[in-house]
Amino acid sequence: MEAMSAVPALESALSKVIDPEIRRPITEIGMVRSIEMDDAGLAVIGIDLTVAGCPMKERLTSDVEAAARSVDGVTDVRVELGVMSEEQRTELKTQLRGGKPEPVIPFNEPGSMTRVYAIASGKGGVGKSTVTANLAAAMAADGLKVGVLDADIFGFSIPGMLGVEGQPTRLGDMLLPPIAHEIKAVSIGMFVPAGQPVVWRGPMLHRAIEQFLADVFWGDLDVLLLDLPPGTGDIAISIAQFLPHAEIVVVTTPQAAAATVAERAGSIATQTSQSVVGVIENMAWLDQPDGTRLHLFGEGGGERVAGNLTRTLGTDVPVLGQIPLDVAAREAGDAGTPVVISDPDSPAAVALRAVASRLSSRRRGLAGRSLGVTPVKR
Ligand SMILES: Nc1ncnc2c1ncn2[C@@H]1O[C@H](COP(=O)(O)OP(=O)(O)OP(=O)(O)O)[C@@H](O)[C@H]1O
Ligand SMILES: [Mg+2]
Repeated sequence: MEAMSAVPALESALSKVIDPEIRRPITEIGMVRSIEMDDAGLAVIGIDLTVAGCPMKERLTSDVEAAARSVDGVTDVRVELGVMSEEQRTELKTQLRGGKPEPVIPFNEPGSMTRVYAIASGKGGVGKSTVTANLAAAMAADGLKVGVLDADIFGFSIPGMLGVEGQPTRLGDMLLPPIAHEIKAVSIGMFVPAGQPVVWRGPMLHRAIEQFLADVFWGDLDVLLLDLPPGTGDIAISIAQFLPHAEIVVVTTPQAAAATVAERAGSIATQTSQSVVGVIENMAWLDQPDGTRLHLFGEGGGERVAGNLTRTLGTDVPVLGQIPLDVAAREAGDAGTPVVISDPDSPAAVALRAVASRLSSRRRGLAGRSLGVTPVKR
């Protein structure tokens, strides 16, 4: 083959190479600097990395090599790595923000089709993070584009549960989130040294949440899940301000005391005018070897919270599912692979997957959404 005529074929092959962090074809985001081929069939591909220490360097190089090799007439490939200039990076950031030079919260843009679910509870330790990680993993496994924002600044646990290591890559002031189990995840735990506590007051928490929403390149997500801290504190209020369209999922245990505080977390929605999608009763029972169920934490908490929230909020708040206690779920969380992936047929995984498909089949329509026009207040 004539060396020159291979260049368009190489370009088309490279357009199938997806940047592992940005998740767009490398040809569309200005990463392919040059494509050359000599008569001997040596293809020399110039690639500009977004940042010098790009953690995905090796993967990208081998993907580019493989793509170039697939082109007829190519006998050998050399990838020459470079780094984007400041100007190129700025251009890329603007492109990723959809043409906007300044950060915005993409989920509030008119036309955003991302469903935003905030996983809340009254009490701590009822399984919010476990539920968040598993819903995210189940939805991602179903092919949805999923992001998880760990909004539990003081008690972050998402990096551990999803097995995310390392930090987001910085593109100037834009952060490219790490991806684990096909989930884009961001947590304060990726920024603080291990074992060090986060000691922040309200305004800093507020700013951190804003940065996680606006400065992180989330891309076109189908679903964003927020793992909230327990209770109705500063962070829940910040989330309500930044994401007025976020829908709340309340997690409770069957226990009466847990249910009472869970209701409080749910009824915050009356003040923030967010809506409550439903209630998940976690740790509902333990299946015994003899086939019976041990109701370790009592019964009825989920139904009670759902019933009472339906009355207070005046909208239908169903029980979305009951998740049994399951050793596999705890082990999987500790190991960094959610149980819906590591042991999809275990009792907890089956229940969690059912909730995930229930939530992901809800459409985010424009109904009930502000269209960006502020109605006259009376
Ligand atoms: N269905 C379940 N079966 C067994 N263990 C579970 C289940 N759900 C959660 N756990 C375990 O219970 C503990 C608390 O769960 P998790 O951290 O998800 O709760 P949380 O509500 O996020 O807590 P916090 O309020 O501290 O953020 C974890 O060790 C988790 O592995
Ligand atoms: Mg948690």
